[in-house]
Amino acid sequence: MPEQEEPMKKILSPSILAADHAALGEGLNVVRECGLTWLHLDIMDGNFVPNISFGPGVVKALRSRDDSLFFDTHLMLARPDAYVEKFAEAGADLITVHVEPDYPKAETLRRIRALGKQAGISLNPDTPAEALLPFLDEVDLVLVMSVFPGFGGQKFIADVLPKIETLARLRRERGGNWRIEVDGGVDETTAPRCLAAGADTLVAGTAFFNAPDKARFIRVCRGEV
Ligand code: DX5
Ligand code: ZN
Repeated sequence: MPEQEEPMKKILSPSILAADHAALGEGLNVVRECGLTWLHLDIMDGNFVPNISFGPGVVKALRSRDDSLFFDTHLMLARPDAYVEKFAEAGADLITVHVEPDYPKAETLRRIRALGKQAGISLNPDTPAEALLPFLDEVDLVLVMSVFPGFGGQKFIADVLPKIETLARLRRERGGNWRIEVDGGVDETTAPRCLAAGADTLVAGTAFFNAPDKARFIRVCRGEV
């Protein structure tokens, strides 16, 4: 089996869910001024998850403020297949869908790529890595939820660390080049544990926007300190 040659560049993707929703453009500016390149957008439908956040209109409005950030769009929707075109048109660069709901998943991932976007697949803390096996050739990123999705500011569930290790092993064995992203409760303490387990992309909402020293927080998330 081919081994992966170089470790992937570490990326921090701040979740704008934790910014002031009456001034999301300012949250975007904070991310940009830190020199970061990714922005995580949490889309919740009040059905797959017990909360409602925002939709393609807000993504489009943020895109109108910035055309260089990579929009990492996390769809927590019962029927993401009904919305991928709308988020693609709104300016998403990566569209991640969950493996748990019942919809044509492989077809949806292929449609995302046919739209010229990157495709991601996400799994909840209690969903095993094996649930992703049919889809690993169709994705650019695997998003491991380290909280049950629906709300920011929750406590990191350390039980997901072995699953990150399993996914990193699967990636090595299969010669895959999809990113492994972790989302939920990522802070200065949990970020290094995620990186050590094999993650290369970290989402942080609360810890990023509340960090008194954002430059240091970014270095921690990149494994530089
Ligand atoms: C949870 C969302 C996460 C969350 C992360 O449903 O997918 O992106 O906002 O927030 P923190 O970093 O506050 O746990
Ligand atoms: Zn998210």
